[in-house]
Amino acid sequence: MPLLQSYIAPPLARDIALAMRSFIQDFTNRAVFCLGAFLASTSLLSDGSQTTMGIAAVNAQTQYLLGLGIGDITGPVVETNMMGYASLAQTDTGLYMRQRSRAWIVADSSNSSNRVVMINADIAMGDTGIRRSIVANLSATYPDLYNNANIALISTHQHSGVGGYLENLLPQITSLGYVKETADAIVAGTVKAVLMAHDSLAPGTLSVGNATVVDGNRNRSPSAYLANPADERALYEYDQDKDLSLLKFDDADGNARGFLSFFAVHGTSLYENNTLVSGDNKGMAAYLYEAMEQPDVMPGNNTFVAGFTQSNVGDTSPNTLGAYCESPGESYDGMLCEFNTSTCGGATEDCHGRGPAFEISDFASNMIIAQLQVDGAQAIMNGTASTAPIEGNVRAVHTYLNMTWHTFTLPNGTTVQTCPPAMGYSFAGGTTDGPGAFDFTQGDNSSQPQNPFWEIVKGAITPFPDAEQVACQDPKPVILNTGYAHTPYNWSPGTVDIQMFRIGQFVMLIMPGELTTMSGRRMRNAIRTQLIANGIVGDDAYVVIAGPANTYAHYVATQEEYGVQRYEGASTIFGQWTLDAYIDKYGSLVSYLADNATGAQPPSDEAPPDLTGEAISLRTGVVFDSAPLFKSFGDVVADVQSSYTSGETVFAQFIGANPRNNFRLEQTFLSVDQDVDGAWTMVRSDSHPSTTYNWTRVDTITGTSNVDITWTIEDGTPAGTYRIQYFGDAKAIGGTITPFVGTSSNFTVS
Ligand SMILES: *[C@@H]1O[C@H](CO)[C@@H](O)[C@H](O)[C@H]1NC(C)=O
Ligand SMILES: *[C@@H]1O[C@H](CO)[C@@H](O)[C@H](O)[C@H]1NC(C)=O
Ligand SMILES: *[C@@H]1O[C@H](CO)[C@@H](O)[C@H](O)[C@H]1NC(C)=O
Ligand SMILES: *[C@@H]1O[C@H](CO)[C@@H](O)[C@H](O)[C@H]1NC(C)=O
Ligand SMILES: *[C@@H]1O[C@H](CO)[C@@H](O)[C@H](O)[C@H]1NC(C)=O
Ligand SMILES: *[C@@H]1O[C@H](CO)[C@@H](O)[C@H](O)[C@H]1NC(C)=O
Ligand SMILES: *[C@@H]1O[C@H](CO)[C@@H](O)[C@H](O)[C@H]1NC(C)=O
Ligand SMILES: *[C@@H]1O[C@H](CO)[C@@H](O)[C@H](O)[C@H]1NC(C)=O
Ligand SMILES: *[C@@H]1O[C@H](CO)[C@@H](O)[C@H](O)[C@H]1NC(C)=O
Ligand SMILES: *[C@@H]1O[C@H](CO)[C@@H](O)[C@H](O)[C@H]1NC(C)=O
Ligand SMILES: *[C@@H]1O[C@H](CO)[C@@H](O)[C@H](O)[C@H]1NC(C)=O
Ligand SMILES: *[C@@H]1O[C@H](CO)[C@@H](O)[C@H](O)[C@H]1NC(C)=O
Repeated sequence: MPLLQSYIAPPLARDIALAMRSFIQDFTNRAVFCLGAFLASTSLLSDGSQTTMGIAAVNAQTQYLLGLGIGDITGPVVETNMMGYASLAQTDTGLYMRQRSRAWIVADSSNSSNRVVMINADIAMGDTGIRRSIVANLSATYPDLYNNANIALISTHQHSGVGGYLENLLPQITSLGYVKETADAIVAGTVKAVLMAHDSLAPGTLSVGNATVVDGNRNRSPSAYLANPADERALYEYDQDKDLSLLKFDDADGNARGFLSFFAVHGTSLYENNTLVSGDNKGMAAYLYEAMEQPDVMPGNNTFVAGFTQSNVGDTSPNTLGAYCESPGESYDGMLCEFNTSTCGGATEDCHGRGPAFEISDFASNMIIAQLQVDGAQAIMNGTASTAPIEGNVRAVHTYLNMTWHTFTLPNGTTVQTCPPAMGYSFAGGTTDGPGAFDFTQGDNSSQPQNPFWEIVKGAITPFPDAEQVACQDPKPVILNTGYAHTPYNWSPGTVDIQMFRIGQFVMLIMPGELTTMSGRRMRNAIRTQLIANGIVGDDAYVVIAGPANTYAHYVATQEEYGVQRYEGASTIFGQWTLDAYIDKYGSLVSYLADNATGAQPPSDEAPPDLTGEAISLRTGVVFDSAPLFKSFGDVVADVQSSYTSGETVFAQFIGANPRNNFRLEQTFLSVDQDVDGAWTMVRSDSHPSTTYNWTRVDTITGTSNVDITWTIEDGTPAGTYRIQYFGDAKAIGGTITPFVGTSSNFTVS
């Protein structure tokens, strides 16, 4: 089978500017995907008549009611910890691109009560509290249509979004507790996306296809993967899944309205030292695709909705060049990290994964990993890769499963159990995408960043698990015994969401954690076998994994990988039988997806408790803003030059105010305006990848701050007169918030 391995040749300079320019230049002339084994081996592509046959089949297929929507979910872009790396030092300072939720609704046209809502949010992971609020809103608004079973909150698993929204305590440690504003923004924007999808419901057809994206990911724990049985590994060409699967949404006339795709790659293209809020590679891919479809529409105002959902992401990395030692002065500087331990000179800190454009910047790598996914999706959307029509009923099943001491029987008859949640030592060591992520466990050490939240909660941790827990978690050496920590509230979820959607022969396993590559394969294969054996779906059953979704239950490694205890094994919180427990549970529920299923839901364990009422938050609000003496908010501090050429970066600095005063959801903190026939027309917003917004506190006592705005002029930008505007909101000492606008001088682009 032909494998095209190339991605763009690394350009020369080292910043976003050049990343942007090279991206635009290479946009049209690259071929970066190849088709799946199925297509290559059956030569469908070389047969010109196939396209015609495909269209005929589509027109005859079942019609569904389809809806698509999008909403802005960007919380506080400054003074807030970012979520993903769990690094205390990663506090956001501004915006690269807004975070969005995207939603797709599919309903049976014969009985539209049978419907599913798939939400793909630009967040690090699904969360019980966020999902509870979304379900509560939608089921109150449309009691007969939306419920706890048919709404899935799936994340892109990006690592550069706003943090603090998770309900359990452990992921709140670096954000100094719960940040309600973040959670509220995610809930409101997601509800908006679903309501937009609801309002756009119209008859249409669905189809499914896949393409191979060879260069889009790399295994970051290959030594753990090698612990899986050789005969099992021999079934697969790669130690990562390279298939991008795509569910295509067409209207009744066969015109594309959007899609939802599935591809496993960590949202860690932007490094831990980035402080500008973004959607990482999947958020970028969605933007790029939507902008390609509707080039004249501002980001977020689009009606074509492109979804890049996460899949069995556990051991994947977008840092496709591999992990290298950054250890200046050491003999191993610039060499590959030690294979089994990902260390440099015995320590994890210096070992860093490198993205494809490492020589330029992580922003450039982010663009490449995004574009690879876009190209794979486009091949399916435009018929270069063939698709199969989706036909059959829409069904949803959901239940809660208490994973603490959950007992079940393996297929060979042996009874085993899962354990109360706990983290192993390698968890604190982090990964090559973000080394030493949880160094806060060192506690008091004054060499560590101060974390007042940790000081409050650390006493609740039982450092010494009891013998039963030690035996259950074996061979994991427990470092954080979170299953026993319920003070001040639960540290880790003990109860998880189990959920599956069926749309005809297409079945989504919506998973509460990050499955490794081999875990995902075992899961898909096992459930697919059950679906076919029970006559729920025919031999054409197409099964995908979506997650981390709904609740964040950390990682899911295979039992063999668990034995190796790298990061993914150490973070498999319910012990070595976690994956088998999921296979058993999901497999036991397939009958709820059958044509004759009534919509009744299976018996359930108790739902996880609402912890937000007791959540601690140490983050302080905005006190007030002020401008320096004889200055006003929005005044220009550093003005633009009078003229630029494409490839150059326009820079302007303004007297600013704290953007936490108004998140400007569905709006923008900046605009690049062009003079079109004497009228200013906005041509770029704060979500365009060519712009950045960076806020700096100048003086805490006086409340002064500056805002830096950049625009890197892309190739092909029309010559003309332009200006930059900054939209801010200032908080007075009395608490009144007043909007203002700053405007740069005019400049020309030639
Ligand atoms: C649902 O959320 C929307 C958007 O935030 C809000 O306008 C509406 O009032 C909410 N409805 C209910 C029933 O909570
Ligand atoms: C890709 O599509 C082909 C054809 O439908 C199918 O045989 C193959 O299993 C699909 N790949 C995945 C990963 O589902
Ligand atoms: C961020 O970290 C990467 C990887 O360690 C490094 O190459 C890069 O120079 C850092 N960037 C900044 C701005 O410090
Ligand atoms: C990695 O570990 C495996 C299993 O313990 C061992 O066989 C192999 O030699 C190790 N590789 C290296 C490079 O140390
Ligand atoms: C289909 O997509 C591929 C891959 O992105 C692209 O190379 C090709 O030009 C597209 N074909 C059409 C007809 O748009
Ligand atoms: C989960 O199960 C354990 C063990 O049976 C039990 O102690 C615990 O109370 C259960 N948790 C909930 C929330 O029901
Ligand atoms: C059943 O399979 C498990 C997992 O491979 C294994 O540990 C156990 O020993 C097996 N039991 C029997 C009776 O073979
Ligand atoms: C605390 O910091 C000191 C000085 O940096 C270091 O020598 C010591 O090992 C640290 N202790 C812990 C528990 O990290
Ligand atoms: C659905 O059909 C299957 C297979 O025909 C049957 O075993 C099952 O009892 C039926 N279920 C219901 C709820 O009718
Ligand atoms: C439509 O589906 C719902 C949910 O499955 C079911 O309760 C209802 O009876 C169905 N209505 C008809 C007319 O079949
Ligand atoms: C934001 O501005 C501050 C102060 O000028 C600067 O140190 C920092 O590097 C800037 N950050 C970004 C991402 O541009
Ligand atoms: C800036 O451009 C606008 C629109 O072309 C024009 O009306 C205005 O006079 C210009 N300002 C300056 C100072 O040149």
